[in-house]
Amino acid sequence: MSSQLSSQKKFLNQKNFSLYISSQEILDKIQSLASLINHDYADKKPVLLVILNGAFRFSADLVRYIDIDVEIQFLRLASYKGTESTGEIKKILGLTTHLADRHVLILEDIVDTGLTAHQIWQDLQAQKPASLALMTLLLKPDALSIPVECAYVGFSIPNQFVVGYGLDFDQQGREWNDIYVAEEASQPPKGE
Ligand code: IMP
Repeated sequence: MSSQLSSQKKFLNQKNFSLYISSQEILDKIQSLASLINHDYADKKPVLLVILNGAFRFSADLVRYIDIDVEIQFLRLASYKGTESTGEIKKILGLTTHLADRHVLILEDIVDTGLTAHQIWQDLQAQKPASLALMTLLLKPDALSIPVECAYVGFSIPNQFVVGYGLDFDQQGREWNDIYVAEEASQPPKGE
């Protein structure tokens, strides 16, 4: 398969974006996150709870490298518009499995203020799972407005708006193979 040439710059909704994390870096990171799951959840048949829409791409690539038995479920809850969090949190939709006594791993694309993850956590905890943990591809530690326990983090990034690889800007840019950052003063991501 020929590798896709990615452009260094993108323009979306009157904003300039520059290449931030390449698809190769993302896939390398995902492979190491999958190894952790294979190790930590061996023989536990965890429920992987994918938070839509943003984590669709992350989870699809992640499961390519998972070699233990897992169950995959999808949840939906929208809380974001434009480049700033509205603070509005909506209800969880789509949960069909009973999670009592199951090992549950939440898969998020990004934790920003942490409000979404916090709410999901509270709702799921009420179902009394055997264990509950959160894996996020991206974490903005400086944006957290509430403590969130992220057991597995792909990249810690500064408080900047990023798009691509499932993450959108008003529903656009999700299909980009790389992650781009809105051009202001961008700083490099830190691998965990
Ligand atoms: P939180 O509740 O503020 O942690 O935000 C969680 C949700 O906001 C994520 O699942 C994303 O959908 C969205 N979000 C937060 N930061 C960004 C970003 O930089 N780009 C795109 N979406 C984001």
